[in-house]
Amino acid sequence: MAYIEWNEEHKTNVSIIDDEHDKIAKLANEIYNSLGDNDKCKLLFADLTEQVQTHFETEETLMKKFKDVHYISHKLEHDRMFKKVSELNDLIQSGEKTVGLDFIKSFRNWLFNHLELNDKKTGKFLTEHGVS
Ligand SMILES: [Fe+2]
Ligand SMILES: [Fe+2]
Repeated sequence: MAYIEWNEEHKTNVSIIDDEHDKIAKLANEIYNSLGDNDKCKLLFADLTEQVQTHFETEETLMKKFKDVHYISHKLEHDRMFKKVSELNDLIQSGEKTVGLDFIKSFRNWLFNHLELNDKKTGKFLTEHGVS
């Protein structure tokens, strides 16, 4: 069983968003399975940081395009998480820190909460505007 079980019930029904969520969950699971192997975690964490940035930009671009009124609050949540991830990534890449279970745990909680509170609403809004 994967640490982050990402399945049908986590769909937003916007294919690009769902594909990116799958990638992020997969990477986070790979990090979880590699905890203790610092060289591997370092590479995976760099990938995760990049993927998270790309994904936040995807959602923000779509929200802006269709003038989603929740854009500001949703983006604020992204900005908070991205600051956390990128600061940790800098420390990991410079060798000052290693990835620990505490991060993966809080990242998993954030992903599920963020999905329910933000991404599913955005998915509904976008599908109502013809995005699939
Ligand atoms: Fe998302
Ligand atoms: Fe989001």
